[in-house]
Amino acid sequence: MCGIVGILGQGPVAGAIVEALKRLEYRGYDSAGIATLEDGHLARRRAAGKLKNLEGCLAAEPLFGACGIGHTRWATHGKPTQANAHPHANGKVAVVHNGIIENFRELRDELRGKGHVFESDTDTEVIAHLFAEAMEGGLAPVDAVAASLPRLKGAFALAVLFDGEDDLLIGARDGAPLVVGFGAGERQNELYVGSDALALAPFTDELAYLDDGDFVILSRAKGAEFRDLHNQPVERRRVKTLASALLVDKGNYRHFMAKEIHEQPEVVARTLGRYLDMSAGTVALPFTLPVDAAQLPRLTIAACGTAYFAGLVARYWFERFARLPVEIEVASEFRYREPPMERGGLTLLISQSGETADTLACLRYAKAQGQKVLSVVNVASSTMARESDVAALTLAGPEIGVASTKAFTCQLAVLACLALAFGRARGAIDAKEEAQYVAELMAVPGLMAEAMKREVRIEALARDFAHVRDVLYLGRGTSYPLALEGALKLKEISYIHAEGYAAGELKHGPIALVDNDMPVIVLAPHDNVFDKTLSNMQEVAARGGRLILITDAAASHDFGGEVETITMPEMAPHFSAVVYAVPVQMIAYHTAIFMGKDADQPRNLAKSVTVE
Ligand code: G6P
Repeated sequence: MCGIVGILGQGPVAGAIVEALKRLEYRGYDSAGIATLEDGHLARRRAAGKLKNLEGCLAAEPLFGACGIGHTRWATHGKPTQANAHPHANGKVAVVHNGIIENFRELRDELRGKGHVFESDTDTEVIAHLFAEAMEGGLAPVDAVAASLPRLKGAFALAVLFDGEDDLLIGARDGAPLVVGFGAGERQNELYVGSDALALAPFTDELAYLDDGDFVILSRAKGAEFRDLHNQPVERRRVKTLASALLVDKGNYRHFMAKEIHEQPEVVARTLGRYLDMSAGTVALPFTLPVDAAQLPRLTIAACGTAYFAGLVARYWFERFARLPVEIEVASEFRYREPPMERGGLTLLISQSGETADTLACLRYAKAQGQKVLSVVNVASSTMARESDVAALTLAGPEIGVASTKAFTCQLAVLACLALAFGRARGAIDAKEEAQYVAELMAVPGLMAEAMKREVRIEALARDFAHVRDVLYLGRGTSYPLALEGALKLKEISYIHAEGYAAGELKHGPIALVDNDMPVIVLAPHDNVFDKTLSNMQEVAARGGRLILITDAAASHDFGGEVETITMPEMAPHFSAVVYAVPVQMIAYHTAIFMGKDADQPRNLAKSVTVE
């Protein structure tokens, strides 16, 4: 989703803004732009497409201003053209925006009626005109912003520059993240705004997060002044971030996605280390649960995309290990269904970014219903982490590839530990069983590392896939949600149509698609439903279907030479979804690469979806 950067600097800032925007590329975007004050007057450069196009514009027509704002746009209102790229400006004000202004049509009609001329299809442009209108009415820039912000409905983060104001940059937040950075040392007087800590990492590690409804007035002379939604001065705590210490580069890999797939044994181990006492062989949560797990009647889970599939896997675990009924739904449906929820119950949210608009809305709904909220998030400073009763952190590190990989398996690691903790608290498993399951979990990172060794085999398979039109993924038990995740991963980055199905549903529809061309990928660890899955495979084989079986050695089976098999390391079946995620991700990655697609930044997709 859109990325925002703003700098009040001491020399030309355009280059630094573009560098910071590059660190936000992972969020997904399709055009970019920058505005600075040149000799006191607003000047813009904007380009459709990737940042290199913007760099081309800047090389042809450089900007030298010492204060500026920049933006990567993920199109919502209007095509990704230069005219729709941010910043939007009108001679007085330049604005960059992340989010959606829901009432932009009414505001635009009103402003047109007052003589404002609009140049773009965006909702954002209305903000620049709204501020300008207030200034034409005699208000100073800060007062114009304060007076206008309450009129904006929707979710947004903004950064604003004003013509003739060399020492003023305003940031505002309502529903989309924005952080202020404070320069130190030779950057002593510099101030920054950005969509996240990562964007500002090269400049500073000293940050303050805006709360929803806040705006901030930045001035080199006066520093940062925060105001709340009532325009009253407020204090926002300064925190030190670790983001600058984290190397955000590809290492030896061609893509972030490849690096992140390969990091999984390490980050899953790190995450498990946080939730298990590995020497005692027990679960050891680093927090107290916000509810009495023994008394809990049910657990509600909501999430989006890959995180939702992690929740689907977890449902099997909570039901099996904790005998706890689970209700789970995609967040975008859940929030508007507005289900009744018992006070004191527990809602579990899962999110890599901790900023996904629909999931965040579920969090707020659940709280309003009197539920306790536990969230499994990867970004510790995210809105969800801050608003939850308890944030269970995944220690995946920054995930840059748009298609989630290591965040998913780290989510699974945390969810497995939670399910076991609930199981113990509810007396559904005893100490001996806990020790057995913990030992199985501790083996997972090593098994993932072993699974990585199938990469050459998977590459060969993927070379073939580059020519197919559709792919079907089948699984039972926890392999069913993994089949859904496999299909999602493949379509996200290779644009091949793929579907995931519960293997038992094969006969109820998808079998009609089976022919020699369509690969059917079967995820079948040697578990209690393996034989059932095997029967479904026979049904595909009998119709001349092309079967690809991912299974462990103990389960290898003779299908009369018809089946291409990826043999996984042998393992106890309970946590196979974490290990089998590896070949599933690699199939998608290598297929996309053979097809010449950008695995890290697939078309139309965004990393952090801060609009509904
Ligand atoms: C986007 C991303 C997905 C992610 C989903 C939920 O669609 O491309 O990879 O699974 O959002 O994001 P979250 O940050 O809440 O996990």
